[in-house]
Amino acid sequence: MSDAVVVEQLEKTFPGGVRAVDGVSFAVREGEAFGFLGPNGAGKTTTVSLLTTLLRPTGGRALVDGIDVVADPGTVRRRIGLVFQESTAEDELTGRENLEISAALYGVSRSDAQKRIRDLLERMQLVEAAGRLVKTYSGGMRRRLELAAGILHRPKVLFLDEPTLGLDPQGRAGLWEYVREIRKESGTTIFVTTHYLDEADQLCDRVAIIDHGKIVAAGTPAELKEKIGGDVVTLVPTDGTADLTPVLARVPGVLQVQKQDGGYRLKCLRGESVVPAAVEACFTAHIAVASVALKKPSLDEVFLEFTGRAFREDEGPSATDTALRMNQFRQRKR
Ligand SMILES: Nc1ncnc2c1ncn2[C@@H]1O[C@H](COP(=O)(O)OP(=O)(O)OP(=O)(O)O)[C@@H](O)[C@H]1O
Ligand SMILES: [Mg+2]
Repeated sequence: MSDAVVVEQLEKTFPGGVRAVDGVSFAVREGEAFGFLGPNGAGKTTTVSLLTTLLRPTGGRALVDGIDVVADPGTVRRRIGLVFQESTAEDELTGRENLEISAALYGVSRSDAQKRIRDLLERMQLVEAAGRLVKTYSGGMRRRLELAAGILHRPKVLFLDEPTLGLDPQGRAGLWEYVREIRKESGTTIFVTTHYLDEADQLCDRVAIIDHGKIVAAGTPAELKEKIGGDVVTLVPTDGTADLTPVLARVPGVLQVQKQDGGYRLKCLRGESVVPAAVEACFTAHIAVASVALKKPSLDEVFLEFTGRAFREDEGPSATDTALRMNQFRQRKR
């Protein structure tokens, strides 16, 4: 399988000296869903803008579907789809008209366009709203329309920059469902930045964490969680009188035992193998176990570990980039 995106020592220093992307390298395999995570101002949007030819790198190189983004931006644009957090649909046009414009921009033939627009409106549950002006749409409807516009020309790689920010949980779940379907049907490579770590965890085959313009961690969500270790097994015996601390501390993989509310909290590596071993150790010591639970670290904890910052889900995009990228996007449309 070849790579859909190859990034080598990519750099973007803005006039004024902010180095938003500072020597970033990674590859996204064809058909993969790749998550790009990072705190506000980390360089996510700048990276997406470089890969989608909205900005020019000041160093390094990037290939999308094998095409160099600097040498041949036109070809790159035809092969990618792009959905931004900010609404890019035209308010004063209907949903259908917006899709027709996208089709024309990407050179989709009229007959193909009509059929695809019909299919997409149906799929995105916008058939009834298709004839209404977009300014009357809810946030979720706009996002579905923009997703439709982003995939109308059947892109090889779909870039989504915080596509679900501001949507309610139902809207978010719905949007990811569409993205999953698109991926399944057409094998589209997905490059997504998101503030919702649980979504990255569910959707993405691999993730990279960027901070201050540099990648600080990359791997499958499971690998990253493994790296920070620290599974927690909670074990409660039926009879709390005997002290099980020495018994549990001897279980392989257990790093620390804490007594807690009649039970025990075991910090360990590979909790899934500690669970049966701990139960067996209790059994051998003639202690019955009432309950045992395993908690794996979440991507939130991984994020905290690698960036030293908690991930706040309610954070919006940087004020700087909202206006900027809207301009870039509009210019590109023209
Ligand atoms: N046009 C610009 N000129 C100067 N600095 C910029 C410009 N655009 C972005 N920056 C700066 O580059 C850095 C990275 O910004 P970027 O928008 O890529 O971050 P981000 O990871 O997308 O953040 P967020 O989560 O807030 O969207 C920030 O310090 C930002 O202020
Ligand atoms: Mg951003």
